Amino acid sequence: MLSSQQQVLPLPEMGSANSGGSSVDSKAAAPRVVDLRSDTVTKPTAQMRAAMANAEVGNDLIGVDPTVCKLQQQMARIFGKEAGLFVPSGTMGNLIGVLVHCEVRGSEVILGSECHLHVYEQGGISTLGGVHPRIIPNKADGTMNLREVEAAIRPPNDDSYPNTRLICIENTHNRCGGKCISVEYTDKVGELAKWYGLKMHIDGARIFNAATALGVSPERLVRAADSISVCLSKGLAAPVGSVLVGSNEFIAKARKLRRALGGGMCQAGVIAAAGLVSLQDMVGRLKDDHRRAQLIAEGLNAIEGLKVDVANVDTNIVNVEVTHVSALGAEELCEAMKEQGVIAMTIGGTKIRIVTHYHISDDDVQYAIACFKDTLLKSSITQGASVNEMTFKQLT
Ligand SMILES: Cc1ncc(COP(=O)(O)O)c(C=O)c1O
Repeated sequence: MLSSQQQVLPLPEMGSANSGGSSVDSKAAAPRVVDLRSDTVTKPTAQMRAAMANAEVGNDLIGVDPTVCKLQQQMARIFGKEAGLFVPSGTMGNLIGVLVHCEVRGSEVILGSECHLHVYEQGGISTLGGVHPRIIPNKADGTMNLREVEAAIRPPNDDSYPNTRLICIENTHNRCGGKCISVEYTDKVGELAKWYGLKMHIDGARIFNAATALGVSPERLVRAADSISVCLSKGLAAPVGSVLVGSNEFIAKARKLRRALGGGMCQAGVIAAAGLVSLQDMVGRLKDDHRRAQLIAEGLNAIEGLKVDVANVDTNIVNVEVTHVSALGAEELCEAMKEQGVIAMTIGGTKIRIVTHYHISDDDVQYAIACFKDTLLKSSITQGASVNEMTFKQLT
C-alpha cells in the first residue's frame, strides 16, 4: 500500500546485486536505491519477461486462454481447491470473494479491524456490494479473539440484524507486521464458521510467505477455508495479478462477477505467464526475504531511537517504532533517508514499515542499517549533542 505521494516519486532504478529486471541502458552508474517500502515494488525477472513475450494466448473473455487456465489449475492444486480464477488484483480477489459468499442482500461479514480488506480497500464490499462489515479488534499477532468472533455472529431469526454469512482472516497479516496465522487458529475459525453455517475467506496476499515461515504446505494451511485470494505481484514478483481459489460453484459465480467489475481480460495469458514463473522460481526463495527481514530487525533495534520487536518478525515485514529519544520523527527520518537512496514508508505517526523482497540483497540490508545509523547520528550532532551523547547503542 503506497501513498499517492510516494507512488509518483521519480525513482531511479533499483541497484542491488540481485535485481531482476533493470531497464537501465545508460552507461552511467545509477544512484543506489534500496526500496524497502513494499514487496509490490518488485519488477518482473528476465524469465518472466521471456515467458510473457512467448506466452500462448487465447481469449479468456469469450473462450479459453491456455496460459490463464494453466495458472488457475496450478493454483487450485497447490491450495487443494477445485478451481481458480485469475483476477487483476488482490483487492478484486477479496471483493469478489466477499460478494460471492454474501450474495444475499442484507449479509454481514466478520473481519479484523486492521485487515487490508477493511482499512485499504475503500470499503468496496459496502459501497459496491452492499455487504455490512462487523469489525472485531485484531490482536498484535493478527488474530481476532474467537470468543468475540462467536459473540458477533448474529442470531438468525431476528428482524433487527443483518445475517452473518462470512468470516475473513488475513495471512500473513500486513498491518500486524507480516505475522503468520497458524494452522490451528485457521482450523478453529473454519470450525466456528461451519458450526454456524457460515463461509470462511482468507486474504492470502502473502499466504506463501506464511506457509514458508510456518513450514506447512499451502494446502494444509488453508484447508478450512472456502476461498483464498492469493497475490502474485507481492513477494512473488509478478507484475500483475492474483488468483482466487475455491469450489467449482464458487468460482463459476466469481467469474461472472469479475466480468461485472471490469476484471475480464482477453489475452490475459501474457500476464498469467509471469505468474507461472512466480510459482516456479519465487516461492522457494521467500525464506531469504524472511532471513533478511530478521537481519534488518536486529540491526535497527540496536540503534538508539529505534525499536523493533525482533522476536515477532515472522516473515518479510518489519514494523519499526521511532521512539521519543530519536533525533528525528518517523516522517523526517524517512525523508532524510531518501537522500541516501533508502526508501521506507511510515504507517501511522511513529512507525516505519520495512519490507524485504526479491530486489533486496544482503548488502542492501547492511547498507540500509548503516544509513539509518548515519542519518540519526548526523541529526543528533546537528541538533547539538556531544559525541558522548551520541544516540547509538553501538558505534561500529
Ligand atoms: C494483505 C493484502 N491484501 C490485499 C492487498 C491488495 O492487493 P492489490 O494491491 O493487488 O489490490 C494487499 C496489498 O498490498 C495486501 O497487503
